[in-house]
Amino acid sequence: MDNRPIGIFDSGVGAFSVLNKLVEVMPNENYIYFGDSGHNPYGQKTAEELQKICSCIVDFLTRKEVKAIVIACNTATVAALDYLQERYYLPIIGVINPGAKEALRLTKNNKIGVCSTVFTAKTHGYLNDINKVSNNDKSIKVYEEGSVNLANIIENGFEYNDENDAIIKELVGRFTDDIDTLILGCTHYPLVEDLFAKYFKGNIVDPGMQTAIETRELLKAKNMLSDRTDNYKVQYYVTKDIQNFKNVAKNLTKIDIDDIYEVSIEAELNN
Ligand code: DGL
Repeated sequence: MDNRPIGIFDSGVGAFSVLNKLVEVMPNENYIYFGDSGHNPYGQKTAEELQKICSCIVDFLTRKEVKAIVIACNTATVAALDYLQERYYLPIIGVINPGAKEALRLTKNNKIGVCSTVFTAKTHGYLNDINKVSNNDKSIKVYEEGSVNLANIIENGFEYNDENDAIIKELVGRFTDDIDTLILGCTHYPLVEDLFAKYFKGNIVDPGMQTAIETRELLKAKNMLSDRTDNYKVQYYVTKDIQNFKNVAKNLTKIDIDDIYEVSIEAELNN
């Protein structure tokens, strides 16, 4: 039994799509959410930059005595999951592998599409994982498409208007083959899943739920679940613009946030 909180981080509001599932699956845990809005967008950074940033965040979260960390960001998972797992002893879970497995479970025609940041698409985060999980099954086709702006638009307060509708329509419309399963491979995207569902009628995979289930199973196997019976609490730390973070959280997830602090990791980053 372990009553310390679970840490969760992303470049900003994207981790809400994972947090929502974590609290559904583990309502009696506490959470510390680190939203790195000061370094957003991650999708336009290099792997080395992301490894450094993620290390600073993991250091921050371990100082807050978390018992495990969920990287609630696909881009950071591709760039830094292995790197962090090699360097830290606490359990660290990413979102790519759970999402890949869920897509493989759902597809019937073995044609899977992935919408993500440009970084995740270019580095073939999902293709590589799906190849691993399926033992290089050549009958499975993976199509990866990255959007330069979508995560950023969501981060800064997505509005349901024609322009944003068109961005998602164009992104989904890039898949020319008849994919039957679409992975939302950026944690910002499930926050506007309704628009993806408007333009894609097959299976939509939000890796958040599978990630939450696997996190619970991992903690259970290590005897690290909490034995608290009261409802979860979340404490938030952001590296820029608390008000924007609160507004977007309220608009897209209906969550009211009060336990929130602005912090900096610049000193550690420049070390
Ligand atoms: N939410 C992040 C992801 O899942 C990316 C957003 C960004 O580019 O910062 O990839």
